[in-house]
Amino acid sequence: MIVFLIGFMGSGKSFYAKGLSEYLHVPFVDLDQFIEENQDISISEIFEKLGEPSFRALESVAIKQVYGDLMARTTETQEKNHILGIISCGGGTPCFNDNMEWMNAHGLTVWINPSEDIILERLMKEKETRPLVASLTEEELRGFIHQKLLERKPYYEKAQSFIANHQITIHEFINTIQHAKNLF
Ligand code: S3P
Repeated sequence: MIVFLIGFMGSGKSFYAKGLSEYLHVPFVDLDQFIEENQDISISEIFEKLGEPSFRALESVAIKQVYGDLMARTTETQEKNHILGIISCGGGTPCFNDNMEWMNAHGLTVWINPSEDIILERLMKEKETRPLVASLTEEELRGFIHQKLLERKPYYEKAQSFIANHQITIHEFINTIQHAKNLF
């Protein structure tokens, strides 16, 4: 079983992917990082030079590739309902192509959904690396988060498990998601 962490930029996907990976001793892959290393170009440059539609196409291919790589490491003795790897998606991954349906069919999707204030606070500190928000002022960013979340909610809501508490520990996180698919 592969866990796909989804949610808005700044929701904590990478943080929890690392934490789960360490706690469970399973590999994790950050999808953006995978694309950057594979293409030898930063996400910002992909948006700038190739445009967002090209990024979305790369993203859809990458999710399947990363899943395939993680599953290939699985041995026959590992049970199907154990967590075998974690994929931290980009904020837009579930909202393009058939990605959300595909992830739901291939693993456990978890929507990390902290409040808009928490997302704003985090993104203000690290927005430069994110092409969609890099040039926005704090007020513009507040509006952007609100609007984009409304647009994206129908996709995020298709997740099989939800985490809304931004201070949840890794142990509590695991307890929450294991109920979603009778894991362990
Ligand atoms: C995006 C989120 C980013 C990255 C790209 C687009 C989005 O990932 O994929 O900048 O559309 O929300 P993070 O959520 O990891 O920042």
